[in-house]
Amino acid sequence: MNKTVRSAKAAAAKARGSQAAAGARSESSALSGRQRFLAACRCRALDHPPIWLMRQAGRALPEYRALKQKHGFLELVQTPELAAEVTLQPIRRFGFDAAILFSDILAVAEGMGQRYQFRDQGGIQMEYLLNSAADIERLDESAVTERLQYVAQALPLIRSELGDGTALLGFAGSPWTLANFMMEGAGVKQYTKAKGLFYSEPALFDRLLGKLTRAVTDFLQLQIDSGVDAVQIFDSLGGVLSANAFQRASARWMGQIIGSLKGRAPVIVFSKGAHGNWDALVKTGARVVGLDWTVGLAEVGAQLPSQVAVQGNLDPLLLCAAPEALAAETVLTLRSMRNRPGHIFNLGHGVPPGAKLENIERLVSLVRAYQPPKSC
Ligand code: CP3
Repeated sequence: MNKTVRSAKAAAAKARGSQAAAGARSESSALSGRQRFLAACRCRALDHPPIWLMRQAGRALPEYRALKQKHGFLELVQTPELAAEVTLQPIRRFGFDAAILFSDILAVAEGMGQRYQFRDQGGIQMEYLLNSAADIERLDESAVTERLQYVAQALPLIRSELGDGTALLGFAGSPWTLANFMMEGAGVKQYTKAKGLFYSEPALFDRLLGKLTRAVTDFLQLQIDSGVDAVQIFDSLGGVLSANAFQRASARWMGQIIGSLKGRAPVIVFSKGAHGNWDALVKTGARVVGLDWTVGLAEVGAQLPSQVAVQGNLDPLLLCAAPEALAAETVLTLRSMRNRPGHIFNLGHGVPPGAKLENIERLVSLVRAYQPPKSC
């Protein structure tokens, strides 16, 4: 692991060095990745945005696939040294400005007593599904902190291996997104059960979402106590809700979580497909709003209050595409944001398993080499 430590730090230092060599002259070029990330969360003007990618650890990396030959997915998630190793793999290779804890949103379900498995052929299987009021009552949100201690143990390992040059992010699923997976499992074509509960049995829906909200709050507090710089809430299924339902079924609960965290760390809310629900998202108290690739970053950025940052939003498929297309879209994205402080560069969703490693490298160097025109 010591080799890991040195090489992760060396990769980050090398990335910063080449950035300087590329001619970044402004004051902000002296920032570490961690400082740059936190400055972007506070909407400070920067020469170029910090960059990390959702699902940056995982199947696209040969070193991840090699570890998966020896260890099951849950073993990787639940063994602090292995979770730390997988978290560091993309940092070592690409020198991103932020590392995200390697885990899964379903850890919270497990913490409440509903376990999950990773199938040998791929994909997630819940041990059982929530089918009744009794199943919902049985969930024990008070057990989360104790059951997810493996995360509390992994985070300090990651922090000490990263040094202070790279930001460390924690995360959780939104209560709405978790409710869908816990009622229906992963990988269904259309999510209908949680929505059915929301429309037809609102009191039971609120009971479930209330429990999930307390569980997610405790889990994020645990991660903040264990040293993360910021946390992201993945509302990956926010977009299946109608514009009217979005506030009551998802945003409201995320707002409660963020309120309980009392500003202890910046919160990024990534609500996939939540077009037009910007007011509801801003009202959650998120410091950063994550956008998928289907909306214009600058257009949405212009509609949000100037103290709210945006994160995103390159089409993930570009990582599998011709490098010229990737470069052209990356530059368009960077240019579109040059007059809007508060941008964290990311994809509009996770890294696809077929991403080309040379495209990821190219993306990082394009973002790092970007210089806004002198007039800005
Ligand atoms: O971003 C990161 O690098 C951190 C790690 C991370 C994983 N899952 C690891 C993982 C994060 C942040 C997640 C979040 C997650 N998990 C979400 C929200 C983000 C999103 O993609 O919308 C969701 C919906 C899940 C649930 C989940 N996990 C499913 C449905 C699956 C199976 C389908 C799939 O993509 O394989 C997983 C498995 C999973 N979680 C993998 C990884 C790297 C794949 C594991 C493997 O094949 O080895």
